[in-house]
Amino acid sequence: MCGIVGYAGNQPLAEVLLEGLRRVEYRGYDSAGIAWLDSTAKSIQVVRQTGKIAALAARLNGRVIQSNIGIGHTRWATHGGVTEANAHPHTGCPWTKKIQVAVAHNGTITNHEALKTDLVRRGHVFKSETDTEVLAHLIEGHIGRDPVQSLLSALRLVKGAYGIAVIMRRYPDRIFFARNGSPLCLGIGGDERFVASDAKSFRAHTHRQVVLEDGQVGYVTAQEQHVFDFRSAALTSQIEEIGWELEAIELGGHPTFMHKEIFGQPDNLTSALAGRLVSDGSVKLGGLLDREPTLHSAQNVILVAAGTSLHAGMIGEILLQEISGLPAHSKNASELANQEHPRFPSGTIVWAISQSGETKDVLLAIEKARQLRRPVFGLCNVPGSSIPRATDAGVFTNAGPEIGVASTKAFTAQVLALHLISLYLRQIRQVPPEPWLDKYVQELRRIPELVRQTLEIVQPAVRAVVDQYQHCPNFLFLGRGINHPTALEGALKLKEISYIHAEGYPCGEMKHGPLALVGPEFPTVVIAPLSDDHYPKIMSNIHEIRARRGRVIAIASQGDESIGQNADSVIYMPRVSYYLSPLLYVISLQLLAYEMAVRLGRDVDQPRHLAKSVTVE
Ligand code: M6R
Repeated sequence: MCGIVGYAGNQPLAEVLLEGLRRVEYRGYDSAGIAWLDSTAKSIQVVRQTGKIAALAARLNGRVIQSNIGIGHTRWATHGGVTEANAHPHTGCPWTKKIQVAVAHNGTITNHEALKTDLVRRGHVFKSETDTEVLAHLIEGHIGRDPVQSLLSALRLVKGAYGIAVIMRRYPDRIFFARNGSPLCLGIGGDERFVASDAKSFRAHTHRQVVLEDGQVGYVTAQEQHVFDFRSAALTSQIEEIGWELEAIELGGHPTFMHKEIFGQPDNLTSALAGRLVSDGSVKLGGLLDREPTLHSAQNVILVAAGTSLHAGMIGEILLQEISGLPAHSKNASELANQEHPRFPSGTIVWAISQSGETKDVLLAIEKARQLRRPVFGLCNVPGSSIPRATDAGVFTNAGPEIGVASTKAFTAQVLALHLISLYLRQIRQVPPEPWLDKYVQELRRIPELVRQTLEIVQPAVRAVVDQYQHCPNFLFLGRGINHPTALEGALKLKEISYIHAEGYPCGEMKHGPLALVGPEFPTVVIAPLSDDHYPKIMSNIHEIRARRGRVIAIASQGDESIGQNADSVIYMPRVSYYLSPLLYVISLQLLAYEMAVRLGRDVDQPRHLAKSVTVE
């Protein structure tokens, strides 16, 4: 969603800010702007523009900005439409004909209406429909001798979540910041400092960062950073290394980030397994080591997540039950967060799954679990993000930065990690060995290679399906058991990047309603691995669809002789056991969505209306 970047230093300001904003374009936005303190005119200047960063750059038209201090923002509209007036940075009332304050804000100010009414009564004139503008007026109204105190006095009136970067005319070498519920970090260079919502904005300049916690405030100059708590006590800031290289957020020759991320999965999965599945078949998960007693005594697991991560959670539900023997349930994070009186049996542990580690609904669900005094674990992809900080312990998916809005490599890394977590729980609960276990563990080790083979073989068949069905406005995706969530994920991928309507269903549900939809122009993608013990039932579903003139695209196992005669198109996959099949079958579905979206000329990496990290409820 929204992105903030602030820069204090001697590099050309507009270039650094625009580049920082471009690096977070992937998060989704609809307008952008920058503000700087002009060192010649000693005034704050603001330029904002709807649309892409390229439009903002065109508006600046190579203008040389005489300044060492500036802030920039990408906005994803929540309060007020997509207009230039609503774009950030926002300013207060130029009482003295000079702008005193400019603010870039991520988050939501929940009491903005009451604050605005009061400010208007006191003569403030508002120029936008945003919640953020109240911050600019409040901060401006509180500027006093100690700027951090002034900022805090203003923020004490505010309810809601915020990460802010602020410049003040009176303090021409400082960028102020505050974090409460919306991520912020500081980039620490030699003679330059950054304030950003995402380290990707400054990784090209430095590999050192300070990750701010909620309840921290302060300022940077080009040479220094000063961090305080909300009672103004000075804090020592911990400088950390950013754990990934710049190449991880560059295209590296791929046409899109989604393409890079789909085809990078064999390597990502290799890293996700490394050092965790050891040669004797045991599992080591460093992040869980000191939580063994809690995990050992757990009676029940609630997996909580949203979107694609929820689909991984639904697969995890089955894996935990089948492999570790623990009852498990997956829950939609926003539903759990809004449930008035959730009841978790004693011995329940909650496991929050999130790629970004910033999803608001998941953070709220964690709060709910905390109110119920349940231990909370995490499965996240972004170290330093809010969810790992809000949980007791957890596992990182180690997939590296994911830039495409449509989650691909994070999903397979989550599913792989859920296999490892299930095996780990089985291990510490000392479940006796069973005959299938060795073969399953051996195959789990081969998953990166099987994904590589899948990527090598499926593309021609996927493209043939796109040729045949690109005109269809609707698709059904069917899967059974552990591949029901795979079907849901296939439908989500198709709708979010190609804008084609798609629904996922369990195979057995067809006769309870969706069958009414099928026909020659309403194709059904059926996940049909031979390793599913109920394969004959999947075949019956295929017959039922075909009997109603429906078209079937089967995703099936290599060597399945009969499926070719029963489906209209077949995408063949390497053979794989049932529990591991989602990891391979989803690759075809990712590619199907990708190829369809490219064919239809969609913006695959930044689909309309969507954001990569959903930081609002
Ligand atoms: O960062 P998270 O995994 O918590 O995000 C959850 C969903 O917003 C996310 O998976 C979303 O559904 C993706 N766009 C799916 O591709």
